[in-house]
Parts: sequence; C-alpha cells; structure tokens
Amino acid sequence: MAQVAEGAAAEGAAVPKGFRSAHHGWPALDRIPHPSYRVPVVGDVLGANVRTPLQDSMRVAARLGPIFRRKAFAKEFVFVWGADLAADIADESRFAKHVGLGVANLRPVVGDGLFTAYNHEANWQLAHDILAPGFSRDAMAGYHPLMLDVARRLTARWDERERAGAAVDVPGDMTKLALETISRAGFGHDFGSFERERPHPFVTSMVGILAFAQRRNVIPSLIAPMLLRGAARRNAADLEYLNHTVDEIVTARRDGTAAGGRGDLLDRMLDVAHPDTGERLSAENIRRQVITFLVAGHETTSGALSFALHYLSRHPEVLARAREEIDRVWGDKEEPAYEDVAKLRYVRRVLDEALRLWPTAPAFAREARGTTELGGAHPMLPGAWALVLTIMLHRDPVAWGPDPEAFDPDRFEPAAVRSRPAHVYKPFGTGARACIGRQFALHEATLVLGLLLRRYDLHPDPGYRLRISERLTLMPDGLTLKLGRRTPQAVSREESGAAG
Ligand code: HEM
Repeated sequence: MAQVAEGAAAEGAAVPKGFRSAHHGWPALDRIPHPSYRVPVVGDVLGANVRTPLQDSMRVAARLGPIFRRKAFAKEFVFVWGADLAADIADESRFAKHVGLGVANLRPVVGDGLFTAYNHEANWQLAHDILAPGFSRDAMAGYHPLMLDVARRLTARWDERERAGAAVDVPGDMTKLALETISRAGFGHDFGSFERERPHPFVTSMVGILAFAQRRNVIPSLIAPMLLRGAARRNAADLEYLNHTVDEIVTARRDGTAAGGRGDLLDRMLDVAHPDTGERLSAENIRRQVITFLVAGHETTSGALSFALHYLSRHPEVLARAREEIDRVWGDKEEPAYEDVAKLRYVRRVLDEALRLWPTAPAFAREARGTTELGGAHPMLPGAWALVLTIMLHRDPVAWGPDPEAFDPDRFEPAAVRSRPAHVYKPFGTGARACIGRQFALHEATLVLGLLLRRYDLHPDPGYRLRISERLTLMPDGLTLKLGRRTPQAVSREESGAAG
C-alpha cells in the first residue's frame, strides 16, 4: 500500500489525468508497431467497429505482436500483451494502476469509489482498509447461506423452464443471480430479479451507464457532446435513478427499517472506523461504494458463469468429470456447506479456464510511477501508461503452448500452473488494485456451477456459435441452453427436501 502512496506523490505533480496520448509519455514510440493503414486525422479506423473495440484489438494484436499502438483521432494508446512485458508491467515498484479510458469514464458515476479512485486519493486506502475484512474467510462463510438462497431461486426458475421444455437465457439468468447475490450479501437488499420477466430498472440503468462509458471511449471528446447529446441526457437520468435507489437502501439500513445487516459490507461502511486513524467513510463515498460493488460485483461474475456453462455444454467429457467430482464430494447432502465448495477443485479449474479464454474484465491499465523502461526496451516517462490486454496475454503461446484457443481445464492442475512463468494469468488484475471481490466471485461461481451440474443436463443449441458482446465487460451473446433433469440419488434427495 505504501507503494501506491509513494507513486501517487510523483504522479500528482507529473501526470495529467485520464486519456493522455502515448506520444506525451513514450519517447521511443516509433519502435512500437501500429496498423499499416493510418488515415489522416482519424487514425487507425480501417476495419474498426465501434461495437467490438476489444475484438478489433485482438485481431490487431495477433498481427502486430506483444506490444503495439492504435490511434483514434488525436489520441494514441499503447497495448501490451506478451508474457514477458506483462510480467514486467506487473512490477509494483515501477508501475501502478492507471485510471483511464473506460474506467475514467465512470468517474462521474462513482468518483473516488474503490474501482475508479486515483492512486493518490485518500479515500482509496480508507475504503480498502475498512472493506477488505468484508472479504475474509469468516465474512465469506457468512455470505454462503445467502448465496445458496439466491441459487435456489435460480433453480426454481430453471425447473419451470425445464418442465415447459423451454430454453433458458443463460447470460440473462446469470446476471439476475449475480446481482441478487451481491446485493443481498453486501447490502441486504432484494431486487426481486427472479420474480420479474424484464430486468430490474436498476439493471437497465446500470447497463445504460456502462454502454455510455464504452461509447465515450471510441468517440472523440471534441465531437462527443454533439453526437451524444441524447445519450448524455439518458445517462444523467440513469445516474439519478441509481443514486436514488442506493440512497433508499442506505436510509432504510440507518433507520433500522431494512432487513440484512449482521456485519455485511453496508454495515462495515456505516459503522466501522479505520483501525489506525479512526476515520469513517462519508455519506457520499458510501453511495459511490455501493454502486461500485453492485456494478463490479455482478457483470463480471455473471459473464464468467455464462462462459463456463457454454464450454461445459460443448465439452461432455469435461462436464462428466466435473459432475463426477460434485457427486463424489457433495454426495447426497441436500445443500453443500461452506467448506464443501472449495473442495470442488476440478469445477474451479473449469472456471479458471473459462476466465482464461474470456476474462470478463478483458484489460486493465498500468502507468509508470517514474522514468523507466518497459521490458528494457521501451522508455516511459512518469505517468505514461499502457493497456494490458489480458485476453491476449491469456492466449500467448509462450505461456499457454501451441493451441491456446483449446478449452482445457487441466491447464490449471497444480503442476501445470507451477510450470508456467509468473504473471501470465490475470483475470482479476494485479497488485494493490487487484480485485477485492475475487474470493467472493470464485466461491459464488463454484457453488452455482456445482448446484447446476448436479441438477441438470445441459443441451446446447446446435446452431449456436459463440458471439461476444462487449460492454465494459464481456458476455456470450444470445447463449441459450435446454435443460434435462438428472435423477441420481443425490438429486432425488435434494428434491424431496426442496418440495417440503
Ligand atoms: C469473475 C468475477 C470478477 C472479475 C473477472 C473481476 C475483475 C476485476 C479486475 C480485472 C479488477 C482490476 C481492474 C483494474 O486494474 O483497473 C477488479 C477490481 C475490482 N473488483 Fe473485481 N472482478 C470480479 C468480481 C468482483 C466482485 C464479485 C466484486 C465485489 C464483490 C468485485 C469488486 C471489485 C472492486 C471493488 C475492484 C476495485 C479494487 C481496487 O481498486 O481497490 N469484483 N476486478
């Protein structure tokens, strides 16, 4: 943590925030390749699609190699994805998180909330220290029954769909599940997502805000106010709705009129003072943190679950191994206890592998704390930054072998993990600003996959080809599955319990 504060001091003086173009901070930018057809004024737009900027960058990366740059109008960005360069940029003594591009676009919404705070902002350390214990082992064990409760609502819905012979909308239902899980475990709030046919308006507003931030990434700031006037108005209304909803949740907790509590994240935000300084989070900061957790805590997890279910439905041999493990480890227990979840080692590898191929937060940005050289070859001035393309790092043959596109959970067997270089797997980011919710997400996703595979057979739509929709996070677009009910002993026992 001290490193973040030190870096901040240098940074505070030297670095303009946000979208500083690479030519300010990379003195030897010429050494870094860019796409060959550069159009004057607009830059590298040939073949670019505003809806799929990430998939465009993947194609460019495959052509240009482990470091490259792309220019959009006056701004040029450096992308890094080779295993060696990614390991170098993970060095916390020389680099730190950079709040830029999509993340900076969220600042008007969540300001100095944990995810969007600049490294030097005092509220980052304060909130981190107050909230980190909310993700301890004890805290996680407390969330487990709530996670089970939400999973039961999902299976009730999927049972209905199965009986009707209808397909399930995987990303839609995983989004409901993940939103209810973080909102109930974090804030004692029930959005009633499974009782609605259409998404809760909170979700619609949140998705609108993420999509707006994404569009602002690709539309130059000079013409954005004109082009996005209508969208900006909708964005302001969405933001007002989010703030209003969160204020109601907080007020109900303060007044004691809401359920929940028992030391959840909201209780920590309201009641816990910093152990050293005695400082507390302000009301405005609490609002920002609640929105941050609701956004960060559900889109990414629902995508991870959706991709895992896609691959499981297409790889019967993987599904059979996962199910054998679940039946063996959980036996005929009606519901798994907290400790039973981490025992599903193979199921966890399925998730790891799904997050390798489709890290649902597909990139993160890093900036130089002082003058340095990336990979001993690319000089950088203080504040110069690059986007680490996790999604390509996870496909670098140097680390992952000759067939990185193949889905193979055995890549995460302990011996295989030990044989790889460090820093080649980063779905949760890196360093002091890595994901605080990692354990929460992994526990939730492993638990839910265990429950679903134990209960259902998964039948993919034979005509479906994986399509990726890009907001700030990734999702398999249009993924549906048909279900069959399994009838082994474990499931029939569970059924008789659930029916009672
Ligand atoms: C599979 C699920 C998830 C993935 C792939 C993921 C990924 C990430 C990544 C890559 C970062 C670092 C971003 C950066 O460097 O700019 C991050 C940060 C963060 N994540 Fe997650 N996340 C997941 C789930 C969650 C959950 C469940 C929560 C909350 C319960 C959460 C809360 C946060 C917060 C608050 C930060 C900012 C941390 C800080 O800067 O101090 N995430 N996440």
